[in-house]
Amino acid sequence: MTEQTAYSGPQRIFSGIQPTGNLHLGNYLGALKKFVDLQTDGWDGVYCVVDQHAITMPYSPAELPDQTRQIAAAMMACGLDPDVSIIFVQSSVRAHTELAWVFNCVTRMGWLEKMTQFKDKGGDNSERVSVGLFDYPVLQAADILVYKATHVPVGEDQKQHLELSRNIAARFNQQFDVPGFFPEPEGLIEGPGARIMSLKDGTKKMSKSDPAETSRINLIDDADTIAKKIKKAKTDTLGDMPVTVEEMEGRPEVANLVGIYGAMAGLSDEQVLAEYGGKGFGTFKPALAELAVDHLSPITTRMRELMNDPAEIDAALAKGAAKANAVAEPIIEEVRRVVGFWQV
Ligand code: AMP
Ligand code: TRP
Repeated sequence: MTEQTAYSGPQRIFSGIQPTGNLHLGNYLGALKKFVDLQTDGWDGVYCVVDQHAITMPYSPAELPDQTRQIAAAMMACGLDPDVSIIFVQSSVRAHTELAWVFNCVTRMGWLEKMTQFKDKGGDNSERVSVGLFDYPVLQAADILVYKATHVPVGEDQKQHLELSRNIAARFNQQFDVPGFFPEPEGLIEGPGARIMSLKDGTKKMSKSDPAETSRINLIDDADTIAKKIKKAKTDTLGDMPVTVEEMEGRPEVANLVGIYGAMAGLSDEQVLAEYGGKGFGTFKPALAELAVDHLSPITTRMRELMNDPAEIDAALAKGAAKANAVAEPIIEEVRRVVGFWQV
C-alpha cells in the first residue's frame, strides 16, 4: 500500500470473546490479560461479547444471556474498566450484522473455504453445520471494521481469521474505490500467552470444548482445583526440568508449563529456567500452582461478586452498547453511502 492510500484515521483496539462454555487460562493469557495491559497502556479499546457468533453452533437460548453476562463479568474482573474501555454485547449493536451483509458480497467463497477453523469444527459433514458457521469469519471482520479498529489482540488460533479481515478491508477499499476507507487490522498475537496448550496433551491447544476437565484451568476454578489440576498435569519421563530452552524442544508439556509460568510472572522461558532448570517437577509444580492461584483468585473472587450482582454488569453493558453504537453508526452510515444504498 502506498502512503497516500493507507488508512490514516485514529488507532483503536477491538476484540471479541464468544459466550460459549467456561473461560480458561488460554482465554485469559491469550486474550483478557492483553486487553487489560493495552488499557493500562492508554489504548482506546472496544471489547465485545460475541453472542451472534455463539449461535453458529448448537446452543441453548435459555442459557445464552447468562453466559453472555459471565464473559462480561470476566472482562471486568480481569480489570477492564467500563468507564475507560467500551464493553458491550454484539447483538445490541445492529451495525455488525448490517456490515457483515455488505462484506458477504465482497468476500469470495474460496477465501472462506480455506478457513481451517471451519474445517475443524464443520468436519466433512457440511450438510449438518450451519451456513452461519461458514460465514463466521465475515461477521468477525465486520465486528472489527465497523469500528475501523486497527489492532486486534487475540490468541494464535485467530491468525487466519485476521488475515481474512485484512483481505476483506483491502478488497472493499479497492472495489468501491475508497482508498484507506477501512484500515487493514493487525493482530496483536505475539507474547508468551498466545498459544496455551492442554494440560493433558502438549500438542493440543487448551480449549473450552475438550471433554476432559483436567485439560484446562477454568477462571472459575477454586484454589484447590487449580492446584490439583497443575499437580496432575502431564509432564514426561525425561527426568527433571530442562536447564536451557534448547533442552525444552521435544518436551511440549514441559514447555507449556514453563510458558504458563512465564506469562503469569512476566518472565521469559530463559528466566523461568534460570530459576527452575534442573529441579524436579515436585518443586516446579507447586510453585506454578501457587503462582496461578495468587494470580487468578482475585479475578475469580471479583467474577463471583459480579455474577451475584448482575445489575452492575447489565448497567455496564447498557452503557457500553450506547458508546459502541455512537462509534459504529456514523461508520455504517458512510458504508451505506459508499455502496450506493438508498438514502432515507
Ligand atoms: P474463544 O473462546 O474461542 O472466543 O476465544 C477467545 C480468545 O481467547 C481468542 O482471542 C482466542 O484466540 C483466545 N484463546 C482461546 N484458546 C486459547 C489458547 N489455548 N491459548 C491462547 N489463546 C487462546
Ligand atoms: N472468533 C473469535 C474467537 O473464537 C471471537 C471473535 C469474534 C473475535 N469476533 C471477533 C475476536 C473480532 C477478535 C475480533 O476467539
